[in-house]
Amino acid sequence: MEEKKVMLSGIQPSGDLHLGNYLGAIKNWVERTDEFDNFYFMADMHTITVRQTPADLRRRTLEQLALYIASGLDPEKNTLFIQSHVHQHAELGWVLNCYTMFGELSRMTQFKDKSAKHKENINGGLFTYPALMAADILLYQPDFVPVGEDQKQHVELCRNIVQRFNGLYGDVFKVPEPYIPKAGARVMSLTVPDSKMSKSIPEGCVFLMEKPEDIARKFKRAITDSDTENCVRYDPKNKPGVANLMSIYSAVTGKTYAEIEKEFEGQGYGALKPAVGDAVIETLRPIREEATRLLADKAYLESVYRAGAERASYVAEKTLRKVYKKVGFVAR
Ligand code: TRP
Repeated sequence: MEEKKVMLSGIQPSGDLHLGNYLGAIKNWVERTDEFDNFYFMADMHTITVRQTPADLRRRTLEQLALYIASGLDPEKNTLFIQSHVHQHAELGWVLNCYTMFGELSRMTQFKDKSAKHKENINGGLFTYPALMAADILLYQPDFVPVGEDQKQHVELCRNIVQRFNGLYGDVFKVPEPYIPKAGARVMSLTVPDSKMSKSIPEGCVFLMEKPEDIARKFKRAITDSDTENCVRYDPKNKPGVANLMSIYSAVTGKTYAEIEKEFEGQGYGALKPAVGDAVIETLRPIREEATRLLADKAYLESVYRAGAERASYVAEKTLRKVYKKVGFVAR
């Protein structure tokens, strides 16, 4: 049997999961389950680079796991785990810190953005975060790493670390490719359509666990464009608000842009907004209900993350042993 290619990704439980995470990431992972050998994790170690309330971090980590499963990620076919449960991440992270240059880390735009935003807490972890992310990736020797645009620079840095490390010690790591899915890749804010949908603009962000009436309200208040045309046409350059709504509608209904334009022919933006809202509500309803049911079943969630950590750790340990040997550590 031919071995499947390996796919790996993680999301930080730094905020509640939202429609952008679902359409841009999780839904694509679900669709590719059978094609790859998959590792998906909650990046809780990355999350503490910004100060967190401990109880909230714990709740969001479990909620994220429940939402992964409720969205269709079958824990039998996907290794789902919590990053901090697999100690090899911290260990390889340290080693890779020593193979990552100060200059490289200084150029990371996410570091620049986050340190501007959290001036009171520019800690070492925030700076060296890409070395930990490289460890997350390289422990599993994945072929593909699906990430959003904002993470491409970190994957590029990971590739540079691989080249440096392999150059010194031979072929230890496989060079990972970023994998940017085509459709639904970038969900924009409903209120600021030139920014990515994110928890930092809550009124423009639809959370997966949000009540239907709140979702409906957010779509009714979505910003459409101030052009006088008032016609539903896909034109992301001149009509970013409408284009974003159309792209969401297309992702949840499977309709093409041409079909959507036809459906709303002769009607304005006023008809589009509630239609998209309703379609999103119906897509998220079963996911929210299933996640709520899973969250009440702590024993089940525990069995999933324990089995996930065990499987992940088995793979990760093999890579870590090899690395320790290469750098000259005495075997235990
Ligand atoms: N840095 C990613 C983010 O903030 C999350 C992440 C951590 C990740 N480790 C990863 C993504 C490894 C892909 C692979 O979105």
